[in-house]
Amino acid sequence: MADKLRFGIVGCGVIGPVHAEAIASLPDAQLVSVVDINPKQAQKLANQYGATPYTQLQHMLDSEAVDVVIICTPSGLHGELACQVMRSGRHVIVEKPMEITREALDEMLRVQQTTGVKLAVISQHRFDPASRQVHELVEEKALGRLVLGNAIVPWWRSQEYYDSGDWRGTWELDGGGVLMNQTIHSIDLLQWLMGPVKSVVGYTDTLVHRMETEDVAVAVLRFANGALGTIVATTGAYPGVTTRIEIFGDKGSAVIENDSLSYLHLARNDKESISAYGVTPQVRKKREDTASTSQNPAALSASSHALQIADMIRAIREDRTPLVDGYAGRQPVEIILSIYQSARLHKEVTIS
Ligand SMILES: NC(=O)c1ccc[n+]([C@@H]2O[C@H](COP(=O)([O-])OP(=O)(O)OC[C@H]3O[C@@H](n4cnc5c(N)ncnc54)[C@H](O)[C@@H]3O)[C@@H](O)[C@H]2O)c1
Repeated sequence: MADKLRFGIVGCGVIGPVHAEAIASLPDAQLVSVVDINPKQAQKLANQYGATPYTQLQHMLDSEAVDVVIICTPSGLHGELACQVMRSGRHVIVEKPMEITREALDEMLRVQQTTGVKLAVISQHRFDPASRQVHELVEEKALGRLVLGNAIVPWWRSQEYYDSGDWRGTWELDGGGVLMNQTIHSIDLLQWLMGPVKSVVGYTDTLVHRMETEDVAVAVLRFANGALGTIVATTGAYPGVTTRIEIFGDKGSAVIENDSLSYLHLARNDKESISAYGVTPQVRKKREDTASTSQNPAALSASSHALQIADMIRAIREDRTPLVDGYAGRQPVEIILSIYQSARLHKEVTIS
């Protein structure tokens, strides 16, 4: 295999250039071509990285010896384009969400199975040092029995943001609102750390923006391991407040705030047993300080997209499954589709 894997990017809007920058930061990757139906967008990104611009994916697949193609188009086009890439024998990385309907997700998994190429789905926050640390602690059972997991996403998006592309906030191409577009990152982390979700009860509404899909949502979750959880999300919380992932167990608790570990307390580190009423506010403050300085600031500055692309490169070279493969990419979408179903039907929905 060549020293550098050759990459193509499809979709040169907001996130396409982030992938181009991530590829440029990796010693064994090279961006060779970009595709956008808008020729100006394709030309602009191509000029920046010395790549060849195309306006049609098939034309690029027929003309270029690319190894991996990254799909960065509106979400409802991910399946069709990813399947086109996989059928051409190339590996594919798909931006989140993997797709927005169960039928499209199933088709992507089917094509991946029959072609045997690698399929990875972007969930870059799984590569943040804080998420990896908490995941390792959960795997070691250091938090004990998990009882409660929460994802809190009080973000702000202006009306101009939703008006900036005709696909944003639509069922057809965004596949939903704050849950499918913004909160999917936190939902993926929550279920990665807490384990699979068994059932959901959800409420959604559109309170602030002119858009088809929801800008506020609340869901109660039952995890397969018996724990409970919540998802609380909006893009109507001006000016946008801290994202929190909270994982609570009977032997420890961890809180990730804006991608960094802000609180960690493990029973195994206690020199003396705590009182029947838990730790005092003074002790709690001390523990939080300890947790927030225990991280490696250099590691935090690394681009999470680059870490995930590097994982895909290793998967290709070592012929193993990428950390977030198609089956993993399907899970948060399944949870979100079930919350929408619950909100529509006003009843609990079980995830099979
Ligand atoms: N991982 C993250 O943090 C993150 C952040 C932003 C967006 N995203 C995801 O990336 C995707 C794109 O989002 P965006 O904000 O960059 O959107 P965008 O509208 O800014 O860019 C999409 C681009 O795709 C192009 N396009 C549309 N149809 C095409 C086709 N058939 N072939 C080639 N190009 C086509 C458009 O012309 C546009 O330039 C979405 O799925 C979104 O959910 C992920």
